[in-house]
Amino acid sequence: MAVNGGLFHLTLALLLMVTLPLEALRGGRAGWLNRWDLLIKTPVEDHEAEEKGTRWAVLVAGSSGFGNYRHQADVCHAYQILKRGGLKEKNIVVFMHDDIAMNDLNPRRGVIINHPKGGDVYAGVPKDYTGEHVTAENLYAVLLGDKSAVKGGSGKVVDSKPNDRIFLYYSDHGGPGVLGMPNMPFLYAKDFIDVLKKKHASGTYKEMVMYIEACESGSVFQGLMPENLNIYVTTASNAVESSWGTYCPGMEPPPPPEYITCLGDLYSVAWMEDSETHNLKKETLNQQYQKVKLRTSNYNTYNAGSHVMEYGNKSIKLEKVYQYHGFDPATENFPPNKFHFDTQMEVINQRDADILFLWQRYKKTKDGSKKKTEILKEITDSMTHRIHLDGSMNKIGVFLFGPEKGPAILNFVRAQSLPIVDDWGCLKSMVRLFETHCGSLTQYGMKHMREFANICNNGISQSAMEEACLAACHEHNSGLWNPSSRGYSA
Ligand SMILES: *[C@@H]1O[C@H](CO)[C@@H](O)[C@H](O)[C@H]1NC(C)=O
Repeated sequence: MAVNGGLFHLTLALLLMVTLPLEALRGGRAGWLNRWDLLIKTPVEDHEAEEKGTRWAVLVAGSSGFGNYRHQADVCHAYQILKRGGLKEKNIVVFMHDDIAMNDLNPRRGVIINHPKGGDVYAGVPKDYTGEHVTAENLYAVLLGDKSAVKGGSGKVVDSKPNDRIFLYYSDHGGPGVLGMPNMPFLYAKDFIDVLKKKHASGTYKEMVMYIEACESGSVFQGLMPENLNIYVTTASNAVESSWGTYCPGMEPPPPPEYITCLGDLYSVAWMEDSETHNLKKETLNQQYQKVKLRTSNYNTYNAGSHVMEYGNKSIKLEKVYQYHGFDPATENFPPNKFHFDTQMEVINQRDADILFLWQRYKKTKDGSKKKTEILKEITDSMTHRIHLDGSMNKIGVFLFGPEKGPAILNFVRAQSLPIVDDWGCLKSMVRLFETHCGSLTQYGMKHMREFANICNNGISQSAMEEACLAACHEHNSGLWNPSSRGYSA
């Protein structure tokens, strides 16, 4: 933290030294600057010609529902940035459920915004994989360039060549070792890393950069992500904390008053608003990482913010951002690394954002109406299911390990060099057993993944787990949350 504080002051000092004269220059002598640009342009373009590779991008919104507006808004916004940067539509693969723009609750029909004062980011976004086709399996097939394995959708895949660069951006809920998907099952860290290893072995890219926003997103890479795949990753949070939604109703800065849902996520808007305001031929991935880290920590307070983490090959971060996000000529004269005088942002834990949304909906609905009663029931039902999930996990811990040790064993956090579990097949089977007897985990229940992992790490057999689930949930009627209709999350 001290390092970041130092960086803050250093940046401030540099800013005072550098930008004042630069601003003065830019005022009346733009022509003078352009002539200098001409002089230095030739070698830059030669360098680009040498590169030859194509830039690819894969953008994934892992959720659905108007309460999760922000994840699809993030992804649409990212598309616009890459498009302005010169990436071609045929090289950008978009996964989004696509239930936001035309949603009855959307106050601006056909429009999606990602900032309180922002314009539409929805227009022009290709609908490669929408609705039921937003799945972890399709994401793997797309990354591997395996057209024959893709089910539904546009069929667009990352058909990359050895000199190409790939940017992957994901935004949604997550939990220890998993990332959410709007269709079951979740993305499991081990499967995802195996796909990356396979892609690397196929020799079909030069380098890859991944930006991942989700709760506990560090846990997807911790102890699993090799350094020799030519991939550099940053995540919104470490392995044990939430990531945060922002631009939410009632917060500072608030969305326009007609919105009852959050517009963005803290880490996501941090990188995108950074990419939009800099000359990306001059800014390095490392400079962006440092600024995103500072802003996502909510300026080192961490009381409502998270720790941005990095994994994989860290040499890659010395490259310029435009290698991945492209270059928008309108940013030519933007500084490479201007400091934003941003104030702290008000944020909400990803897992409470959907309750906030339902509550806003409830407040805005006419008193005494049937709709209002329905929304209240929806709030009560989801709160009841949350309490049921938490309580059942507690009971299972007690049945398996006893009342004294149960909670400590379930919540044990392994060393940072280790993945959350060694046997991922075991983790999945424990999740299925739980869901069979206790109902669907839902996006909220992803937070219990570490507990299933610890059940495996302590050598519990499937039959012992089944007995514990039965004991905890035999009286429970899953109703709405029956996995046989919703699909198993493992
Ligand atoms: C990391 O990336 C750099 C730059 O591309 C490369 O030279 C180096 O060999 C890579 N390291 C590993 C362990 O693969």
